Amino acid sequence: MHILIQYPALQAEIDKVAEVAGYLWQKGWAERNGGNITINVTDYIDDALRALPALTEPRPIGKVLPHLAGCWFYCKGTGRRMRDLARDPMANGSIIRILPGCDSYEIVADAPVDPTSELPSHLAVHDYLLAKGSPYRASLHTHPIELVALTHSRKWMEKDAATKMLWSMIPETRAFCPRGLGIVPYLMPSSVQLAEATIRTLNEDYDVVMWEKHGVFAVDTDILNAFDQVDVLNKAAQIYIAARNMGFEPEGMTEAQMRDLSQAFGLPK
Ligand code: 13P
Ligand code: ZN
Repeated sequence: MHILIQYPALQAEIDKVAEVAGYLWQKGWAERNGGNITINVTDYIDDALRALPALTEPRPIGKVLPHLAGCWFYCKGTGRRMRDLARDPMANGSIIRILPGCDSYEIVADAPVDPTSELPSHLAVHDYLLAKGSPYRASLHTHPIELVALTHSRKWMEKDAATKMLWSMIPETRAFCPRGLGIVPYLMPSSVQLAEATIRTLNEDYDVVMWEKHGVFAVDTDILNAFDQVDVLNKAAQIYIAARNMGFEPEGMTEAQMRDLSQAFGLPK
């Protein structure tokens, strides 16, 4: 059954995922199956959906995530391409529900598409967001070229070194990614260790964290806003690189200019 047909509000959220998947492909951040998206869709689930039978046996998450009791998620499928998801999100992703015990899930709709290999990180992050009463419902992992390139240098892996440089490239980056870029040293993709390090770093009060030599993980109220935070950061990295390619180290905005901006926009940190 195609469940979205009867649920326009749920359809609208999944349409945003498809829109962002198209942007990721166009930007060159989504080679092959690169990157993944999950959104917490629990608010759109009614009793009729709750009564739907599962399409699969329960599968372990690998962790107990107590705040996910009764939660439902749309997840990109593992091995699926963003460029395909942009055309057909329900054939390249699936809706899952968390089972009682909060350590397993089953696929409910539309087809038994196995969720992303980064599910441990995504679900652990959603659990963390719910635990702290956050309104954030979307998480995005992607491979933005220039931001990943920065992580191949120790200099930019120092805490807040990349954030300060990126913020100073153009005022919008400070304004629209106001918590900056957290840093997670290299860990095995899809591992529980990577999930735990991601949460530790988000908890230092970042919305976007950098997975060394891999990609970024971003959270926000919806998937368009999560994408925008990554987009403004990567734009700043491109400006830095453009200046270096023109043969000079960019000046960057001054501390005073950044302070004025923070005050004018009422920005955190
Ligand atoms: P999936 O295809 O399993 O979502 O993996 C893509 C990826 O970027 C892993 O880090
Ligand atoms: Zn990845």
